[in-house]
Amino acid sequence: MSSDRLTPAEASARTLELCRIAPVIPVITVHDAAHARPLAEALIDGGLPVLEVTLRTPAALEAISIMAEVAGGYVGAGTLLTPDDVMRAKAAGATFGVSPGSTDRLLDAVAAEGLPTLPGAATATEAMRLLDRGYTTQKFFPAEAAGGASALKAIGAPIPQITFCPTGGIGPGNVRDYLTLANVACVGGSWVCPNDLIAAGDWAAIVNIARTASVLVR
Ligand code: 3PG
Repeated sequence: MSSDRLTPAEASARTLELCRIAPVIPVITVHDAAHARPLAEALIDGGLPVLEVTLRTPAALEAISIMAEVAGGYVGAGTLLTPDDVMRAKAAGATFGVSPGSTDRLLDAVAAEGLPTLPGAATATEAMRLLDRGYTTQKFFPAEAAGGASALKAIGAPIPQITFCPTGGIGPGNVRDYLTLANVACVGGSWVCPNDLIAAGDWAAIVNIARTASVLVR
């Protein structure tokens, strides 16, 4: 266990800072660790320096450790489900975490490991439970399936003290609906790093997509 325990309030302050750096956090799935460095460089070059690498592939932890060495980036681990995920992500060099939902075991682990984490909520009750623990910055997931921007706007009326990073089903056609909400700091999405462009090594195309996303107005 790390000695750098982090309170939920401290974690939320740090994740809010990260969410304010750019309008979009790329949600990255890496199948080949050789792609990690050029992909991180392309996204950072395009103006999206806060990167979430999902722990869904065997290459993910190696990709995190490679991306953590790329100057100008902030590399986090997504799909944190268990305390073991938290420890492995931190050991690989992740400086923040993202989880699709929230369990007490997971929240205890991120606090004990001192890994600032965006915990996931999809309903008012889940968001309130996290707020009870002190989490004022949360991920809204799965954003589109859970009601989209109108649901998030509605949650913000009675609970304006939570700021969200909605993720799941967001792309060029609906991203502005989220970014204009008062309770949204940024969004997460995989559309800025499509699998086919990664597989083709078309880093220039990814720089272009990232540039377009990086100037979206919040
Ligand atoms: C995630 O993996 O956290 C999100 O589901 C990414 O969603 P997207 O692929 O719809 O952007």
